[in-house]
Amino acid sequence: MSRSLHSDAVLRLTAGSLRPAGSPPQGAPALLGVGEPDFPTPEPIVRAAQEALAAGWTHYGDLNGDPELRALAAHLASDAAGAPYRPEQVLVTNGATSAVSAAVSSVVSPGDRVILLDPSYSLFSSAVLTAGGEPVYVALDDTGHLDLERIAAALPDAKALIMVNPANPVGTVFTRTELEALAELTRRHGTVVIADEVCDHFVFDDRVFTSALAVGAWRDRLIYCQSLSKTYAMTGWRVGYLVAPTSLIDGVRMLHRTFLGAVNAASQRAAIVALESGDAFVKPMRESYQERRDYIVRRVHAMPELTARTPEGGFFVLARYDRDTPSLELTQRLKEHGVVVRPGREFGPAGEHHLRISIAAPQDVLTAGLDRIEHYFRGTR
Ligand SMILES: Cc1ncc(COP(=O)(O)O)c(C=O)c1O
Repeated sequence: MSRSLHSDAVLRLTAGSLRPAGSPPQGAPALLGVGEPDFPTPEPIVRAAQEALAAGWTHYGDLNGDPELRALAAHLASDAAGAPYRPEQVLVTNGATSAVSAAVSSVVSPGDRVILLDPSYSLFSSAVLTAGGEPVYVALDDTGHLDLERIAAALPDAKALIMVNPANPVGTVFTRTELEALAELTRRHGTVVIADEVCDHFVFDDRVFTSALAVGAWRDRLIYCQSLSKTYAMTGWRVGYLVAPTSLIDGVRMLHRTFLGAVNAASQRAAIVALESGDAFVKPMRESYQERRDYIVRRVHAMPELTARTPEGGFFVLARYDRDTPSLELTQRLKEHGVVVRPGREFGPAGEHHLRISIAAPQDVLTAGLDRIEHYFRGTR
């Protein structure tokens, strides 16, 4: 029998991952699939990178990240936690993608069960499959919040739990009360919690955001993943970071440097300027995204076969459609009809019969895309 040239990790991902491959489709379709900000990266951040390149930040940097950037990230984490984090507890990463992947691979061994809230960001299941773990989907409740009873039932067998807040794709902002209740459950079982908060600056209607860092019971088991991609419209710069307890950070670092080495030096110098800017660049983006969210929800509600909850935060509206067609097939049809959205099934079984629509697309693209969705549903009724 001939052996596969591929590792088990590749075979598991091939069989189990629904994440799109390659570059996004170009040209005619209205692209509402990816959480890609339509804002340019703010000019002072771009200038900082240009100056860094001119000043010779063109070589390998510290494998753990630029020390100044780590100090700043530790400071922000300490502020959010109300307790000190040291720069040695910070690892600069190639965006949140490599933060989450390194975090998962550093704690998950083949056969380990990992709880994913269903539906949730598809990177999580791919990272678990890469490590040889078993994703265990636990459905969110009907309002998109935590179903603590179901989570409690799954926890005894689980090594880790991965969550994203604000939630992608459902748009929930988890409350302090539910996070603390979850922390009490995971503490009892010694579960490692990996928290992705890349959209924490995009919380709407003046809602209060509670970071996982602020939940004291998680302190010794939490790997916190952050990114500059969404907050500062820096998706192409590839800078993020994670914060972890001393007992876990060395393992994460080892995995990260094996795959990624050091992160782009000039991007990290620009990231310092971004993190020092507070809310100045972010506020106008948040206001604009909130308007677009309202527009999408209004349009979805005007379509007889579609419904959606109003997202409390994040980059996406998750629209449910009242048809039997699986979402993978429906998104293919919609693409042929000139609009790219993501199939809810990509994010877990509970995402089936949903479409994920990005809030971050430009208004004219949103209008064209929603017109085409409406036209498709009307024409195929
Ligand atoms: C919840 C979530 N986490 C992580 C990422 C990846 O971000 P990055 O560009 O930092 O790798 C995304 C991007 O869409 C996301 O939505």
